[in-house]
Amino acid sequence: MAEYDTIANLFQASRNLPFRWHSEAYTYLNLIGNVTGLKILDLACGEGVYSRYFKQQGAAQVVGVDISPEMIALARAAEIQNPFGVEYLVADVTELGKIGEFDLVVSSYLVNHAPDRPTLLKMLQAIARNLHPQGRTINITNNLGQAPETFNICAPYGFTKTAQLPLTEGTPLEVGFILPDGTEFKVIDFYLSPRTYEQTFLQAGFAPIDWIDPEVSPEGIQEWGESYWQDWLTHKPITIISTQLI
Ligand SMILES: C[S@@+](CC[C@H](N)C(=O)[O-])C[C@H]1O[C@@H](n2cnc3c(N)ncnc32)[C@H](O)[C@@H]1O
Repeated sequence: MAEYDTIANLFQASRNLPFRWHSEAYTYLNLIGNVTGLKILDLACGEGVYSRYFKQQGAAQVVGVDISPEMIALARAAEIQNPFGVEYLVADVTELGKIGEFDLVVSSYLVNHAPDRPTLLKMLQAIARNLHPQGRTINITNNLGQAPETFNICAPYGFTKTAQLPLTEGTPLEVGFILPDGTEFKVIDFYLSPRTYEQTFLQAGFAPIDWIDPEVSPEGIQEWGESYWQDWLTHKPITIISTQLI
């Protein structure tokens, strides 16, 4: 059973946390830009929120891949209810062969699940083998540079980060979610250093690497106030890695 199978519905509800729309999606989608006519592969697509958005915005083809049958069941249910033509596949990205040549390969919280460098390499090689030579890959993950002393600032945004210190390669990073209705659940991510990420992207054939800080939408500032976002923007719990094939 995949880790997310038992929490698929809860994770779907995490979409309502303010940071997910007003910062994560805002920064990610701005970076991705116009998707009209593009072929997009969405790895670790979960319930397919981004996959569906890309297709709705005019992408020529969108394929969503996730290891969790339950997450893909939610994605397929949304597709049946309101068909956009997104294709879904249950598969482990570390074992994904070449399924196409995509202009854009994206992932939102995939690489944080790699417990070690060999697994990360397999994920990045799967991206490389499915990317058009002139294509781009954009990946949301935990900010590996966030100082553990500042992990407590995440709580007002609806989640917690907990780890045994000091952080070393492969240290489990427990991410607990607290939904607006008080429901709690957790997932296990792993710490790998920014240097390991840089080296492994290079090994998989990618450079240069851009690390993009989260921003907040004008609507998010208006709705929640500037002071709400201050710790978020100072300590940056998430980051986005953008790169291309060498
Ligand atoms: C935090 S969720 C993110 C889902 C979605 N991308 C989003 O942003 O809402 C992480 C997803 O990664 C998937 N996942 C973890 N390891 C994976 C792997 N090796 N191959 C494919 N999917 C994986 C999980 O099943 C889960 O759906």
